[in-house]
Amino acid sequence: MRTEKLEFKYNIYNSIDELSKDEQELVKKAILAVDNSYAPYSQFHVGAAALLENGEIVQGNNIENTVSPVCICAERTALFSSAAQYPDTKILKLAITAKADNFELEEPASPCGSCRQVLVEFETKQQHPIKVILYNKNHIISIESARYLLPLTFDETRLKKH
Ligand code: THU
Repeated sequence: MRTEKLEFKYNIYNSIDELSKDEQELVKKAILAVDNSYAPYSQFHVGAAALLENGEIVQGNNIENTVSPVCICAERTALFSSAAQYPDTKILKLAITAKADNFELEEPASPCGSCRQVLVEFETKQQHPIKVILYNKNHIISIESARYLLPLTFDETRLKKH
C-alpha cells in the first residue's frame, strides 16, 4: 500500500481591482449574466462568462425547470453556447458569480461536479487549460486550470487500454 497526496495552488484576491483588465471585464460580464438567470425554484441566480481566444466573451446563466434534472447551470450554458457559436475557438477563462434572493452569499459559488466534468472535457479537447475565476464581493478565487477541480478525473484516456 502507498498513499499519495494531491494538492494544488489557487490565488485569492480581495478586490476586483487586483485582477488583470481582461479578467475584470470578464467578471463584470458574469455579474451581468446573473440578471438573465431563470431560477424560480432555487432562487439562486448564477452568471458565468467565458473569454475565448478570439477575444469574444460568451455569457451563460442557470436555467431551471419544473422537472429539476432538466436544469442547467450557468457554467455549462456559457461553455455550450461558446461551443455552439465558436466550435473551433479555445476557451481561455471562465468567470462565475452568484446571487441568492434570500441570503447574502459570503463565499463565491463554485462549479458543481457536472460542470467540472464538462470543463475538463473542454480542456482536453482544446489542449489548453481554462482558468476559472470565482467572484464574490468579499473575495475572488482564481484557479489556473479546471483540471485541478476534478482530481483523478475520468477523461478520454480511461476509455482506452494503454
Ligand atoms: N448552479 C449553477 O448554475 N452553477 C453552480 O456553480 C452551482 C449551482 C445553479 C443550479 C441551480 O439552478 C441553482 O444554481 C441551485 O443549485
